Amino acid sequence: MLEEEYQARRVLPPHLRPAPPAEAPFEYSLRDARAADLPAVREIYNYYVANSTVTFDEDAMTLAEWKDKFAYLEKLGMPFIVAVSPSGQLLGFALVSPWKQKRAYRYTVENSIYLGPAASGKGLGRVLLAELIERAKAAGLKEMIAVIADQGAEASIALHEKFGFEEIGRMGRVGFKFERWLGTVLLQKSLK
Ligand SMILES: CC(C)(COP(=O)(O)OP(=O)(O)OC[C@H]1O[C@@H](n2cnc3c(N)ncnc32)[C@H](O)[C@@H]1OP(=O)(O)O)[C@@H](O)C(=O)NCCC(=O)NCCS
Repeated sequence: MLEEEYQARRVLPPHLRPAPPAEAPFEYSLRDARAADLPAVREIYNYYVANSTVTFDEDAMTLAEWKDKFAYLEKLGMPFIVAVSPSGQLLGFALVSPWKQKRAYRYTVENSIYLGPAASGKGLGRVLLAELIERAKAAGLKEMIAVIADQGAEASIALHEKFGFEEIGRMGRVGFKFERWLGTVLLQKSLK
């Protein structure tokens, strides 16, 4: 065969192929939320507003609303944390907010955890919830309640039960989204 007729094999036999690159490890760090995180927080949250029943919000939250919420939680000293990738991309967030406004409810909070779709299913929910619980305890809070949709939020229910949240009640037909009725499951954990 003449040298100019030679063509390299397109596909190497298996034993000569280079090993595929290892999947990048899922790395993140946790820190307090900052005002500069709010556009990315809003983007993650609004994904679930538009595409799921895990939140009963139907209208996208505005940046102004997130700024108000951030300032309000900061004033109350309530934890609001984020998980960020090594490159600084926001992967998810978790926060607590007052359960109700009346003063006797002051030690009781409701939690919220939202991960970007690409960051779900890798155990980050566990890490964020563990940190949120510790920070809520440190802030002197005593009871945490999760209000979870009774359809399409199986991962959230499983996650909370793993942390010892116990079901304290259910409400049927209290939400109406995507043309169907939805209920909620309430889970509670004492922060002792
Ligand atoms: C709910 C959420 C925070 C969970 O975080 P996560 O990192 O994805 O959690 P994981 O996928 O590791 O799942 C946590 C546990 O639930 C289990 N789980 C996950 N999906 C499940 C499902 N569909 N059914 C039953 N169990 C499920 C997992 O096996 C895991 O258990 P393990 O610790 O024994 O492995 C995250 O998926 C999310 O942001 N979802 C959308 C927003 C949301 O629902 N927020 C909560 C509002 S109350």
